[in-house]
Amino acid sequence: MSITTAIAGATGNLGLSITRQFLSPTLKPHLSRIIALTRDPSSAKANELRNLGAEIRAVDSSSDDSLRTALEGADVVVNAIGSRSGDMKEKVLDAAVAVGAKVYFPSEFGVYVQSICSTLGQIADLQVSSDHRLNDFPGYEHSEWTTKRAHVERAKQLGAGKMKIISLYTGAFLEMIVSVSPLTFLLWVVLITKQSNSGI
Ligand SMILES: NC(=O)c1ccc[n+]([C@@H]2O[C@H](COP(=O)([O-])OP(=O)(O)OC[C@H]3O[C@@H](n4cnc5c(N)ncnc54)[C@H](OP(=O)(O)O)[C@@H]3O)[C@@H](O)[C@H]2O)c1
Repeated sequence: MSITTAIAGATGNLGLSITRQFLSPTLKPHLSRIIALTRDPSSAKANELRNLGAEIRAVDSSSDDSLRTALEGADVVVNAIGSRSGDMKEKVLDAAVAVGAKVYFPSEFGVYVQSICSTLGQIADLQVSSDHRLNDFPGYEHSEWTTKRAHVERAKQLGAGKMKIISLYTGAFLEMIVSVSPLTFLLWVVLITKQSNSGI
């Protein structure tokens, strides 16, 4: 079976790792084409992905046509656009629907932390999460969660009956944890240990 996969945000913190994995000897034989989207096809990261075998396609974030053209032929679209990218995430979704992609990964990649909530709940009556599905407590709405929630809802509506939506919850990125203060790092270690012990 021939599968063409496109990654939007392929040169980003997460997107670069995803794209490198798709281009690895383990996965590449199963994927006929890997398309990496970027606004700057001449960057060092774009060149690295090109050398690994990706087809680099330029996008102009101000043009919907440019996104549709860049996603032309994609069966699977991975949206790895970052949170501070304006409406680019939504434009990628619109273009994925327009080109008839069959599978769509929204830019989720949050931390599934139900057990963290209960751990903190033992200390104080708190709920903490970067997974918008758990963010249902009144009085606080993080803008990233509301944006992600709205995005997934839109994807479900636009893709209904046409496109499978797969949301991935990855856990916290280790490099982000170790780049914070020692106290925050210690807190994360405690919470993640609890999380793993609870079998998530
Ligand atoms: N679980 C965790 O701990 C964790 C941590 C961080 C992020 N995340 C999640 O992972 C996903 C990706 O985040 P990320 O940090 O990897 O993203 P990022 O590096 O900030 O952005 C990814 C790419 O988006 C592209 N882009 C397209 N239009 C853009 C615009 N208008 N402004 C800025 N960039 C634009 C850029 O590529 P070009 O310049 O090549 O066009 C950029 O490299 C998000 O959903 C985020 O919430 C999770």
